[in-house]
Parts: sequence; structure tokens; C-alpha cells
Amino acid sequence: MSGYTSTFTLVLVCLAAWAHWSVQAKAHDMHLHQHYLRLKVCDRRGGGAYCSWGATRGYVGPLDSAANIKEALEATQYKKELILFSEDRMPEATQSLARFRNAGYSHIIGILPELAECHRLAHIFAPWTHEHGPLQCGTYATRDPSGKPYPVGFPFLARGIGMTVWWRKWYTAARAVALGYNVLALDSDNLVLGDLYWRVKAPDSPLSEINLFTQAECGDCVNSGFVYIQNAAPNGPIAWMLYDMVLKVVRWAEDPSGIFDLSPKAKAANWIWSDDQESMSDVLYSAITGKPRFFILAHNLNMHKDEEAYKKLGVANGDELMKNIKPPKDKWTFKKYDLAGTPLAEVACDHLPDLERCRREVAAATTHLMTAELQMPHCGGEWPGSLGGYPFNKTLGPIALAYRQSFKDLGVPLPPDPEDPATEAAARATRKEKYGLVHVRPGMEGGVYPAGWLEGTWFRTGRHGLWHTHLLQHEFQSFAHIHASLFPGDFQKQLVMQAAGIYDWRVGARLAGGANRPYYLYDDSERTPQPELRRVVAYLDGVVGPWLSKKEVIAAANGLAQVAVALGAAAAWPAVDCSSDWVQLRPGMTGYSALLRAAANTTTAAGSAASGSAPAPAGSAAPVMEHSIPWSYLDTSFQAVPFGPSLRALKCMWPGFTWRDCLTSRRPHRPPVGRGLTPVEFEHLVQLSERQLAAEHAHWWDQRQRLRQVQPWLPSFGPVLRLAKDGPAATPLSAAPGAAPPPAPGAGALLHAVRYDELLELNVEALLQGGGAGGGVGGAGGPEPSVPVLWVDRLVGGVEGLRGEAAALYGNWTKECRGLRYYDIPERDRTNW
Ligand SMILES: *[C@@H]1O[C@H](CO)[C@@H](O)[C@H](O)[C@H]1NC(C)=O
Ligand SMILES: *[C@@H]1O[C@H](CO)[C@@H](O)[C@H](O)[C@H]1NC(C)=O
Ligand SMILES: *[C@@H]1O[C@H](CO)[C@@H](O)[C@H](O)[C@H]1NC(C)=O
Repeated sequence: MSGYTSTFTLVLVCLAAWAHWSVQAKAHDMHLHQHYLRLKVCDRRGGGAYCSWGATRGYVGPLDSAANIKEALEATQYKKELILFSEDRMPEATQSLARFRNAGYSHIIGILPELAECHRLAHIFAPWTHEHGPLQCGTYATRDPSGKPYPVGFPFLARGIGMTVWWRKWYTAARAVALGYNVLALDSDNLVLGDLYWRVKAPDSPLSEINLFTQAECGDCVNSGFVYIQNAAPNGPIAWMLYDMVLKVVRWAEDPSGIFDLSPKAKAANWIWSDDQESMSDVLYSAITGKPRFFILAHNLNMHKDEEAYKKLGVANGDELMKNIKPPKDKWTFKKYDLAGTPLAEVACDHLPDLERCRREVAAATTHLMTAELQMPHCGGEWPGSLGGYPFNKTLGPIALAYRQSFKDLGVPLPPDPEDPATEAAARATRKEKYGLVHVRPGMEGGVYPAGWLEGTWFRTGRHGLWHTHLLQHEFQSFAHIHASLFPGDFQKQLVMQAAGIYDWRVGARLAGGANRPYYLYDDSERTPQPELRRVVAYLDGVVGPWLSKKEVIAAANGLAQVAVALGAAAAWPAVDCSSDWVQLRPGMTGYSALLRAAANTTTAAGSAASGSAPAPAGSAAPVMEHSIPWSYLDTSFQAVPFGPSLRALKCMWPGFTWRDCLTSRRPHRPPVGRGLTPVEFEHLVQLSERQLAAEHAHWWDQRQRLRQVQPWLPSFGPVLRLAKDGPAATPLSAAPGAAPPPAPGAGALLHAVRYDELLELNVEALLQGGGAGGGVGGAGGPEPSVPVLWVDRLVGGVEGLRGEAAALYGNWTKECRGLRYYDIPERDRTNW
């Protein structure tokens, strides 16, 4: 009986423990869920008219035949709207899909090279099917019916021209428009920050008159990374543009004789030009002028100074050819739209990133757009050399014929053929459509960027903090393209998303195959397996303070890298304090030294000297900057990428450690090196670990956090490394940092030297037990998260006596990782990072 009772009690205890754990875990899941729910922007405006969670049918299959594409698009569309992108990289494809689905738009279809990848995508997104609905993913045949691979994995390309993924996208978009859908066709590096649909199609939006929007690459040319098409006729000029931009490439790939006859230079190089955005400008200029012309030719002949081709075309030079081909200025209208009194006035501001001015001028809103009329072009029986002549073989080959047939198979009226003399009247009678070039002002490359609130780039808005929507009270932009003057590095676009809080780590983890794996140190794009991440060494918060110079931060990172290889750990590359002088746009005007000067002056001056600086009470902890958006006082062009859960907790990431060689340890044909986590990855790992420990060891967790109130230097979990037996590096931290007077900038940091043998000996227990020796609450000890973190509580300059494998790893690492050997690189090669 008693045995029974005790078993019963044990079961009860276990149940209670489980219930406790599961309540905790659920609370944390909820927290996580809330984090991602805030990305749902579809219903912030316009009553959520285009929110489509659970409203699509799901499709995984081929897109080749007319029946295929009709089924796929019908399964995807919501209120006749489609979003599409094409990718051949899984990290980009998964994050694109996640962004749109998180934003509330499930009516998106991804185009991937192989069906197996679509199935993988479906598997990765399975946990969210109940909430977002099934996903849509399509492919094109990569082999002919006999099983022979197509030359570049696409049925209509006889040879490679640019990237095959582009042509898959535009072929799909062309057929979608022919089938009557409104299409948002995007590169995989677009962010959704607000509802585009409401902005461009609400009945009171004057922009509803525009049928085709594209981002600007220059004052009158296209960046095709962001393209939105609405209410375009299946047989109108926009449908023709999409059809023709791919057809040109299909014809040239099949039979380049037209181009090669014109340009012996191209023939000698056996090279056919074209990328997708020049192709789009090409057809755009034909439609604006109503007469076919060849911007692609002009652009490339001009670039290669092809005198022979100019002679054949009867033009003096490339400039003249370009001038003939570009639409005359009077074809463009810089149109002003009055938004006063419309709901759009609240979100439209042509002055981004000047948020102050945007807030001030909310009521008086106007916006501008470069617009042009689009008409169905027709040759009218002539192909003047001044416009590029007729650079084709007149007779269509079998591939071009099959391409054309695939549109006829759709069973819808198609645009008139501009080359067919019999269709001239029909072309002239075709209803005109309207084009809007977003984000330019005529003849200006500086100054304001009209309609940047519809869509904007990294350089204009993102780097100033406008994409960190969790730090803003208001939405200023609907779409954003991670493009234009990014800082250097190997993973910049994903880093931008991670810093802005838009990246979906859950999806990253499912792609990587584990919650602890969505980090670049596991990146498999080079198909090289990486060893397991066993532990991480990191500087405690506050150790890398704002008083450090860039040189000192890099020296301290080198020290940390040595500790990391010594202990078989990854280095958490330190975040930089955003108050540091060297990350300010105007060092000394804002930042730490300006704050120190102001603090020394507080007896006389109450106000702040420079943008947002808040002097700390005299004689206490290091003063900190108060940050605000736009953080245009920071050097965000390349010195710092800010991130963090709040403006108070803002940290900066120096891009110098975001190269693959500083992060992954195994690369093809290279010696193994150490491995690192970017600051934003490490922040994710810490949050993950904290959630895990709080859920699984609630009692310990509560005690530890209480202890931290009296010992603020104690990390939230994990042991602090012991660095030396005696001397300054061994002195325990008796008081919180900050009790000491703040150091002067450039005073020189104390970089401790640590001995390899002592480091191993003193931490052997922590290392053997995974990081947290003993069960104590404070100091070393306590339960461990899946990836233990070992904290370093003071700056380390290097590990003396490093030998063997560790020395070899570090030696090779300093050769490979640019950040580590920054000051050994000639100055001319490090001007922009
Ligand atoms: C033009 O195309 C036709 C049909 O494919 C082909 O027979 C002919 O040889 C081509 N002409 C040139 C100059 O390549
Ligand atoms: C100190 O305060 C005085 C009086 O407000 C001001 O004129 C001066 O510019 C301040 N100096 C610094 C270095 O901030
Ligand atoms: C890597 O380190 C080992 C040991 O120091 C050395 O022999 C080897 O040459 C290094 N490899 C490269 C590419 O530097």
C-alpha cells in the first residue's frame, strides 16, 4: 500500500513538475509568439483587407503547362493578388517566405529550382500551417522529356544569360499578368514594414491610377527588385513588357546571330548581355515611346565602347545611341498628389528619413511620383539603327516558338505583336497604362526621395533605423529593399534583417536542423560540414565599454579569439557600445567624449550638448547616450549596425567580423580556423538560453536573478572564467563596474595577458562539466543551457604560451579573418569598414 502511495505521490510530483514546466514553457512560447505577431502588419491599415492567413489553398508542383500555372496561381491568389519571388538559395527562400507569411500575406508563391526543395520548404513551415495556411511553391522543368538536363535548368534558355532565377520569376509574372492577376514580383531581399495594398489601391488613394510601380535604380531607370502591377490588361502594354523582356533573352540565347552581327566584340567574347533590370528598362522605354528600341544594346555597347557597332547603327558614339533610346524628358511627369484629408496623409511623407519633419507635416501631406504613360509599342514597319536596329534572326527558332506557344496556351487575348505589320492599328488602339518610378526626383541624385514611404532602400532609410519597427511607434514605410551601399561582409542582407528584428530565427533553426544551429558557424552554403558548437566564450556586458577605441576593441577581440581557441569554444564577437566615439558620424561632437565633457560641465549647463546626449550625474558611472531614430549621428554607412530590444539597450555591431572566415571554421581548400558568433547571433543565443533555463530550472533561475540585483556583474547564467592564479587578472570583481570613475577616451585599455596553462587548469572543472561546474547559484555553477557560455569579465589582450592545435588554429585564423588582422591590412583596403 505504502509503495503504491509513494509511486502515486511521485507521479503527482512529476505531473506537478511537468505542469509547472509546461506553464513556464508555454509562457515563453507565448512571449516568442508575441514577438513574431508584431510583424503582422497586414491589418494595421485598411481593415486588413489583404490579410490572407488560411485563405490560400496551397500548391507544391510544376508551373510549366498552362494547366499547371493556372492551378498554382488559383491556389495562391487572394482577391486576385499574388506575390512571387524566385530563389535558388534556401536561407533566402525560407526567410522571404517567412517574412510575408509573418506579415499576414500567405498569398505568396516561391519559385525554386527543384520540387525536392519545395517539399523541404513545406516541411520547414509545417509548424505554422495551422495559423498561416499551407504554402505555395512551384518549379520549372530542369530536364527535357527525355531526361536530358536543360543547359541552364530552364526550358526556354539554350544558354546562360545572367541568372536563371530572374527569368523564372519574370516568365511567371508575365503569365500571371496575362491571366489577369495583380502581381507583386520581388527579389528575396524585400522587407514588409506596412501594408502596400492599402497605400496603392484604397479608393481614396490617388496612387490607384498607377498600374506598374518599380523601384528606381537611377533617375529614369528601373531596379526590378521591387515591382508591383495592378489592373493591367492581359493584352496591354505592361503584359507585353513582361512577355517581351523574357522573349528577347530566349531569342538571343537560342540564336545570338543578331547581336553578334552587330557587335564583333560581343561575338569575340561569345557573350550575350542582359540582366533583368536592364531588360525591364529596355521594354519600359519601348512602351513609354510607343516604338521598340533596345536599351540593353545601347547600355552594353556604350559600356564596351564598341565603335564598329556604332558605325553599323549609324550613330557617332554610345552617348548618342543612349540619348536616342531613352525617352525624351517630356514623356515623364513629376506628378504631385494631394493627400490632405485622406487617411494616406498619416503614412505618406516624402522627406524620409527626416522623421521630425514627417511628424510635423502630417496634415499637409503631398507626395510625388515620377510617372509616365505606357502604350503598346509597334515598329510601324521600320527598325532604325538609331534605336538599335533589328538585332534578331527574323525567323523564330523552335525554343522561341515554344515560348510564344506557352502564352497562346493560356487561352487569353495576348498583346499585338510589335513586329507584325498587320497589328499596327490594334497596337495604336490598345488602352494606355500608367507607370510610377518610386523614390526619385527628376534630375536629382541627392536631396529628397519622393514616395520613399512606399518603398525605400538601405542607404536612404534602413541604415538610419527606420526598419527597426520594434523601436518605432509609427510606421513610416511600407516596403524596403535591402539594397544600395551595404557594409561589407558575407551575410549582410540577413544581418540587416537580424539587426532590425525582422529575421525569423525559428525558421532559420528549422532549416539548420536545430534550435542551437541558426548561426553562420553552421552555414552549409559551401557544403562543408561544420563541427558541433560545444561552448562559447564572451565578454560580459559592459566590459567592452564606450571608452575603448576601435584599435582597443579589435585587440580585445583578438584576446577573446585566443581564449576561444584555447578552450575549444566559439568566440562571441563583442558588440560595440553605440556611444563609442569611433562609431559616431562626427566623433567628439556626439558620443562618449562629448558626454564626458558635458558631464564635467553639469554644474553650469543643464542642457545637452549634442543630439540626444544625456549627461550622467557627475562622478558616477560612465555616461551613456540616449538613442533615437533616425540615428543619423552614428556612422551606419559601415562602422556600426545597431541592434537591440530597445533604444536603451541598443548595441552596435562592427561588420569586420561578419565575414565567413571569422565565423565558420571549415571551408573548402582552407585550413581549419576558429569560429565565431556575430553580436546579434550571440544575443539570440543568450535569449534562447535564458528562456530555456527559466523554463526548465525556474527555482534556480529566480534565485540567480535575485542574486544579480546585489552582484550586477554576475551573468544571468553560466560561469565567469578564471583567468589567472594571481595578479590583476585574478582579482575578483569586488564591486560592480561603474563604481570606478569612467575612463577617459583613448586613455588606453588594460588588456590582460593570460597564461594558457593557468587558463586550462583553473577552468578544468567548468570545461569538463560543460561549463557550469557545481550546482551553486552564484559564480561558477548552476544548470547549463544547451550551448554553455563562459564569460570573460575583463579585457584580455592575449593568451601566452598557446601551443599545439590551438596555436595553429589561431595562427591560421588571423590570416583568414579580416577583422582579426584589421590593422595589418593596408589602409587603402579598409576604408569602408
Ligand atoms: C535564323 O534562324 C533560322 C531558323 O532557326 C536558321 O535556319 C538560320 O540559320 C538562322 N540564321 C542565322 C544567320 O543564324
Ligand atoms: C559648459 O557650459 C557652458 C555654459 O552653459 C557652455 O557655454 C559651454 O559651451 C559648456 N562647455 C562644454 C565643453 O560643454
Ligand atoms: C595552419 O597552421 C599550421 C600550423 O601552424 C601551419 O603549418 C599551416 O601552414 C597553416 N596553414 C595556413 C594556410 O596558413
